[in-house]
Amino acid sequence: MHDYIIEAKDVSFSYPASENEKVLVLDKINIKIERGSFVAVLGHNGSGKSTFAKICNMILQPTEGKMKICGKDASGDMTDEDILNIRKSIAMVFQNPDNQIVATVVEEDVAFGPENLGVPTDEIHKRVDMALEAVKMSEYKKHAPHQLSGGQKQRIAIAGAIAMLPECIIFDESTAMLDPNGRNDVMAIIEKLHRENGLTVIFITHYMEEAAKADRVLVMDAGKIKLDGTPREVFSHVNELYEYGLDVPQSTKLIDELEKENMKFSKTVLFPEEATDEISRALEGNK
Ligand SMILES: Nc1ncnc2c1ncn2[C@@H]1O[C@H](COP(=O)(O)OP(=O)(O)O)[C@@H](O)[C@H]1O
Ligand SMILES: [Mg+2]
Repeated sequence: MHDYIIEAKDVSFSYPASENEKVLVLDKINIKIERGSFVAVLGHNGSGKSTFAKICNMILQPTEGKMKICGKDASGDMTDEDILNIRKSIAMVFQNPDNQIVATVVEEDVAFGPENLGVPTDEIHKRVDMALEAVKMSEYKKHAPHQLSGGQKQRIAIAGAIAMLPECIIFDESTAMLDPNGRNDVMAIIEKLHRENGLTVIFITHYMEEAAKADRVLVMDAGKIKLDGTPREVFSHVNELYEYGLDVPQSTKLIDELEKENMKFSKTVLFPEEATDEISRALEGNK
């Protein structure tokens, strides 16, 4: 039995451009996301990734099609209770950590989400401690968020999402503004939450190396889902990805270039260790 947290059937979305003109941003999206999965979403700027994320979190509703979130129909009229339940289940972390800090002390910032959900005070304290522990920021509990580095601020934003005890967190380019160290730290925390707590992760990114670590990769272009599969399946479409203005992981690219020079490999590679193995094997074969 499949257990889906998100089910989109022919979901379209248009923004009003002027009084009688609309811009189609999502064009008949069909997608089911399984509970507990780690799904990366790739796509050029303007392809509709953030709009799709906002539909998954009920910030927007589809203009056409059927959307089910946590098993509830989310495409028509909904009760406040249904909306609150979805907000409890699906949290979002955005790109710019500075826009997500709302309080002047770290612990208050992390408490903001659960407070809005009406969680009792002593329970909030426990959740804040747990969430700060999860992002390795406990010692900064009493600090001022604006004095932290970008990576640390983003970890606080993630702690705020964790404190809501959601089933799913959508990361909308949450690593984009971080330096490589900050990015690695944040990625490691997300992978751990997925692995150890069964968190469903929807991970929008421009970094192909990050997408390679997901269970599944979706590729969007002009409001449509063009590719959907494991990272190995999706990144085997090197030329198609280039057409969408995207890239492939460095190791995938290296092997692809060597193939053009007539070297023979047995599979699409994603990671440096795999590339080393494949190249040694190919060279052995040539002896
Ligand atoms: N509030 C808005 N009003 C009108 N058009 C919008 C709005 N937000 C986004 N768009 C347009 O919708 C398209 C998709 O945007 P978005 O979902 O943000 O894409 P992505 O996250 O992939 O960059 C873009 O062409 C963008 O200009
Ligand atoms: Mg976006």
